[in-house]
Amino acid sequence: MTAPGIAVIGAGMIGAAHAAGYRQYAPRFGAERFRLATVCDMNGNMAGKMAADWGFAATASDWREVIADPEIGTVSVCLPNFLHAEVTQAALEAGKNVLCEKPLALSAEAAGKLALAAANAPGVSGTVFNYRRIPAMADIKRRLEAGELGRPVQIAVSFQCDYAADPLLPHSWRYEFAKAGPGALLDVGTHAADMARFLFGEVAEVVGAISTISVPERRLPLGATTGHGHAELSDETAAVDNDDVMSGLLRFANGAQGFVSASRVAVGSGNCMTVEVLGTKGTARYSTALPSHYELAILPESGPAEFRKVPNRPATPAIGRLAPVPHDNVAIGYAEVFGYMIHEFLSAIHEGRRLENGSIEDGWRVAQILDAIQAASVSNAPVRIG
Ligand SMILES: NC(=O)c1ccc[n+]([C@@H]2O[C@H](COP(=O)([O-])OP(=O)(O)OC[C@H]3O[C@@H](n4cnc5c(N)ncnc54)[C@H](O)[C@@H]3O)[C@@H](O)[C@H]2O)c1
Repeated sequence: MTAPGIAVIGAGMIGAAHAAGYRQYAPRFGAERFRLATVCDMNGNMAGKMAADWGFAATASDWREVIADPEIGTVSVCLPNFLHAEVTQAALEAGKNVLCEKPLALSAEAAGKLALAAANAPGVSGTVFNYRRIPAMADIKRRLEAGELGRPVQIAVSFQCDYAADPLLPHSWRYEFAKAGPGALLDVGTHAADMARFLFGEVAEVVGAISTISVPERRLPLGATTGHGHAELSDETAAVDNDDVMSGLLRFANGAQGFVSASRVAVGSGNCMTVEVLGTKGTARYSTALPSHYELAILPESGPAEFRKVPNRPATPAIGRLAPVPHDNVAIGYAEVFGYMIHEFLSAIHEGRRLENGSIEDGWRVAQILDAIQAASVSNAPVRIG
């Protein structure tokens, strides 16, 4: 009997990160457990290239065929945002294990339906919250839970990117509200809101929010585009109708305050998430721009508190076994962390347990925060959650 197949649906920028993660970690569970089966994309060239690059056996163009295939046991949904809910729902109903890219859906209501479906589905399911897998983040959360930082007081998470800073980048699904939802908010604000909730717990209220469009129109490409890349442009332009920049002020259920911000036009920032956590006894701060360590200051019994560097090393023995170079001073990057997340998903399937950290329910709870930020930015008034 052949092993149940893994399929990656969507062969664009992030589909490759999923394919690479499966390629790296599926063999650890044995050839009889997982098989790299199919890459699906409506663009046959993209599917073919990705299958060849990462050793998947076959390609497909119709995601419905992949979901209907009894030999496929596990799927990653790496499609544009507006397709996530429909494809993930179908995969859950078909009993597949499914890992859906963020944002789970375009609205909290749609994400809530998926959370209900996931709770009743036999397969293992999750939302891609890869930044939770950064060992520094897990370590800061551990310190918070152990009370080392005292009572949570304030958190600031900013996700500044410049992938859309150049106004000559082509128009794509990302710049259409109907296909992407709110722009920077749903694209990278999702990670910022998830990180704030991961570390400080449930958000009770969005006190205020602002969103801005700074590049109001872009030229349409002549051919297909993927990710954030340049392409040959036509003379035709299309409006950008979702935010380039957003900021939201949060009140947490535990009484702490939070600030989340996201931009896709932050010139020079690359892909940079910065987290600052303040408690009554200590402060921790981390930036993906300085991945080798995070900084920690704990209030001493006397004298001023000073920051020290804490290595961003694999926080658990399980993750430690995954790091090819498990040395404290060797920085861990985006792709490795993405791989840790895929490994955790495969482990949950292998062990027959739910994926608790980065579940579909987590995707829904984050969607509630994002909906409230969007609503507050329109109404200019506070929005309570739940
Ligand atoms: N977790 C992360 O860090 C991270 C990073 C980047 C993107 N993402 C998410 O991943 C998703 C995809 O983003 P991307 O940058 O890879 O996009 P992309 O545009 O590069 O790729 C999307 C792919 O989907 C294919 N596609 C579109 N409609 C299809 C259909 N009906 N059937 C089959 N294939 C179809 C396109 O041909 C394209 O190859 C988005 O939801 C985005 O938010 C997550």
